[in-house]
Amino acid sequence: MILELKSIYKAYVQGNMYVPVLKDINLSIEEGEYVAIMGPSGSGKSTLMNIIGCLDKASSGTYLLDEEDISNYKDKELSYIRNKSIGFVFQTFNLLPRQSALDNVALPLQYAGVPKKKRKEMCLEALDMVGLSDRVDFKPTQLSGGQKQRVAIARAMVNGPKILLADEPTGALDSKSGVQIMGLFKSLHEQGVTIIMITHSDEIAAYADRVIRLVDGQIISDTDNPEVAIKYQESLKSENEENSEESPAQVDEEVAE
Ligand SMILES: Nc1ncnc2c1ncn2[C@@H]1O[C@H](COP(=O)(O)OP(=O)(O)OP(=O)(O)O)[C@@H](O)[C@H]1O
Ligand SMILES: [Mg+2]
Repeated sequence: MILELKSIYKAYVQGNMYVPVLKDINLSIEEGEYVAIMGPSGSGKSTLMNIIGCLDKASSGTYLLDEEDISNYKDKELSYIRNKSIGFVFQTFNLLPRQSALDNVALPLQYAGVPKKKRKEMCLEALDMVGLSDRVDFKPTQLSGGQKQRVAIARAMVNGPKILLADEPTGALDSKSGVQIMGLFKSLHEQGVTIIMITHSDEIAAYADRVIRLVDGQIISDTDNPEVAIKYQESLKSENEENSEESPAQVDEEVAE
């Protein structure tokens, strides 16, 4: 299990008001899974994501990351873990506006103390992976939305984290750029990266293998993605049709099974 949340609660104290946001969240995710988190605005998705990503701490409960109980870690230990194990992508990209694509991608490596020459090599490789080798010196204002998000993905993945967290990664993009970003996620998933992605869009959620729905701070459903299951069956069917064109009767039999 790459991560396990047990009975996680999160509440904020606002003046003399107690605001419960997450209530008894229990969730296990295995290495290599591709999970979508959905739910209405205010249901606690980003709060949950921030706890998973070690950007915030639960009020109570246990969080095991890679079998390690990090529930009571201090901020400094959490930043170390975040830098090493987790890549984060946000709806609004969160790039430094005055830095080039290359320098933005270099940030996590700088924190990790990677020497300059090695840093550059790794950044160029990451920018190549997202198809931006010809934009390394461009600043965010000189890039399209989709390109900015690709820089953010390069930054998230540059030091090879096992987990990619994305909070509405296509929320600010047109549908064509969104599809491109989903293409990148797919290839990262195929390389074994565990992906957890918040989305409001059914179309985007359809890329994941598992969909978790939050309502009012609680998980109300956690299912294998039915659309993925249907696509899989369709691909089996068309494979069968291609493989045995001479004997259609046999195909029917196999599909019926
Ligand atoms: N720092 C905070 N102090 C007090 N309440 C907060 C704080 N951060 C979040 N909340 C509350 O927690 C609830 C969940 O917020 P969260 O951002 O997790 O929702 P979300 O599901 O991501 O919504 P959206 O889809 O709009 O992004 C909201 O009611 C919000 O007001
Ligand atoms: Mg949110």
